[in-house]
Amino acid sequence: MTNVGTIGTSQITKTFVEACIASRAFTVSHLYSRDKAKAQALIDDLFLPEATAHDDLEAFFTAPDLEVVYVASPNSLHFAHVKAALEHGKSVIVEKPAFATIAEYDEIDAYLQAHPDLHVIEAARHLFDSNYLTAQEKVRQLTEITGATLTYMKYSSRFDAFQAGQNPNIFSPKFAGGALYDLGVYLLYAAVDWFGVPESSAYYATKADNGIDLHGLARLHYPKFDVALIFGKDQQSFLASEIYSHRKTLWLDNLGEPTQVRLYDSPAVYQDLSQHTAENSLVEEVNAISLMFTNREEDKFKHYWQLAGQVNRLLVELRASAGIVFESDQTK
Ligand SMILES: NC(=O)c1ccc[n+]([C@@H]2O[C@H](COP(=O)([O-])OP(=O)(O)OC[C@H]3O[C@@H](n4cnc5c(N)ncnc54)[C@H](OP(=O)(O)O)[C@@H]3O)[C@@H](O)[C@H]2O)c1
Repeated sequence: MTNVGTIGTSQITKTFVEACIASRAFTVSHLYSRDKAKAQALIDDLFLPEATAHDDLEAFFTAPDLEVVYVASPNSLHFAHVKAALEHGKSVIVEKPAFATIAEYDEIDAYLQAHPDLHVIEAARHLFDSNYLTAQEKVRQLTEITGATLTYMKYSSRFDAFQAGQNPNIFSPKFAGGALYDLGVYLLYAAVDWFGVPESSAYYATKADNGIDLHGLARLHYPKFDVALIFGKDQQSFLASEIYSHRKTLWLDNLGEPTQVRLYDSPAVYQDLSQHTAENSLVEEVNAISLMFTNREEDKFKHYWQLAGQVNRLLVELRASAGIVFESDQTK
């Protein structure tokens, strides 16, 4: 099994490690935190007696048995963590969105081209979800796409703290936060994966006083149709996502975490295509990515890296169209 080390100790790291344990896909052998006690607490909590806790990044990256680094730090720190991992000869799984600027993607891309033995994969978990993949197969079978409405909007558990005057990373321009760079990423991935890179795009954002987007509407324009994206973190939506092909409609209850997929032929007639999914939302992703490492699936690594580049470019274009500025813009 491939040895993985993690960066960050928030809930998503815990879920990732639990998925590794449940699927027996990766061995989690090293955990890094700025506070060693937090890494050790995760080791104890998840019964990983063989794993090592670190609070020194250099010692973490130079651990001889470490092969792949899972980066789950705040968005604006991804680039530095990915770069350091690669420079220590480790491949990377980096949480979405992988990068804050195009320059960051391009620099890592150049490094990967010079070091073809190393890989970086962006952890866009829904791409590996069986309901997403079922929907994808149907999208590809539709004879003509005439439009789509894609939605993902959830009230963030950190929004109350933000409103109370605290500064959670996910609502901070310093850490490349905001709705587009969090839930918007899932919709952009689906749009680019299923319909390709749009001809033009625009984002109409509702912003907080610090300039970050709380929710918004984006339009992706393709030669023969448009895709509407609705996403946000300061309010709750129960809207489904739909892909249109004249009379037929492909329907997903929740594109970020799909549990139901239907193909409608008419308002009362539909095929239920829903698949059962694991309780841990990262299990399918962890399984798929671990197989890519074990079987050296170079074509898949290349495919997902190119897709990540297209999505990260589109993120920057949409952000620019809404006038959202990150601290990372000044450094790159
Ligand atoms: N795939 C998914 O379903 C999913 C779900 C949630 C989040 N995410 C992604 O996961 C990443 C982390 O998100 P999150 O909400 O968990 O972020 P977060 O809580 O703000 O930070 C994650 C971890 O980074 C470290 N950290 C926090 N602030 C830091 C700072 N100022 N400097 C250095 N390290 C810092 C902390 O670990 P230590 O204190 O241990 O150092 C923390 O546990 C994001 O990219 C997000 O988009 C993905």
